[in-house]
Amino acid sequence: MRIAKTVELIQSKSHGFKPKIGIILGSGLGSFVDVLERPISFSYNDLDGFPAAGVSGHEGKLHLGNVKGTDVAVLQGRVHYYESGIPDEMTIPIRSLAGLGCETLILTNAAGSLVEEAMPGSVMLLTDHINFTGVSPLFGEKDISRFVDMVDAYDPVIRLSFHNIAEDMGIKLHEGVYMWFCGPNFETPAEIQAAKILGADAVGMSTVPEVILARHAGLKVAALSVITNMAAGMSDEALSHEQTMENAHKGVKDLKSLLVGFLELYS
Ligand code: HPA
Repeated sequence: MRIAKTVELIQSKSHGFKPKIGIILGSGLGSFVDVLERPISFSYNDLDGFPAAGVSGHEGKLHLGNVKGTDVAVLQGRVHYYESGIPDEMTIPIRSLAGLGCETLILTNAAGSLVEEAMPGSVMLLTDHINFTGVSPLFGEKDISRFVDMVDAYDPVIRLSFHNIAEDMGIKLHEGVYMWFCGPNFETPAEIQAAKILGADAVGMSTVPEVILARHAGLKVAALSVITNMAAGMSDEALSHEQTMENAHKGVKDLKSLLVGFLELYS
């Protein structure tokens, strides 16, 4: 009910705008909204059930607009599990995107790299994830639909599109498995060694609960990580949120180009 009301409010204030693609912008990646044409913006505070975004680099706004002929809904800012210890805070935003008409959700995040070739400032397309937290945003759901199939959660056709776009643009696009740590502390070097053995290529504190919610809502999913640092123990540089923000800005140019290329393809 709450979602239907929120969707209705957004539709009434946007003259029935029907986005095809949803995008979630991660830490330091919010400037993507500059490419939106004819934007209409809502503060999360004015949308019932939307969380108040709390971490610097996360605005807390929903933007509707057009990019290269495709109508999109952009969530500028997310909340993380570590902010409240509640894993399902992005439920209403994601279900609202589906309610507005989105068929696909593209997630972005800042992540630490476990592979030497994927350096800070580069972009990695996710192929799969490992949920290392042991929690799910679907805890407590009663319906049989809670048993979500997570095979090919990261849509293989969309992944191929991103590789083709990257190749055309001359952008090196890495690919790998993302491991979700709950944060807010960074990982220990021993945890990163364990993550490598388990098959991770990147680590981060977001995205996975949103992917689960999006698949549960029937959305196709793709996810792009901007690599902001080599993971704990892999370089001499100290890990910090400031470093994440600084290096996110370096990768944002390629990320923007890839997203715009994708939206042009879907127009
Ligand atoms: N670990 C977890 N989250 C992150 C990292 C990291 O190294 N870099 C950016 N977000």
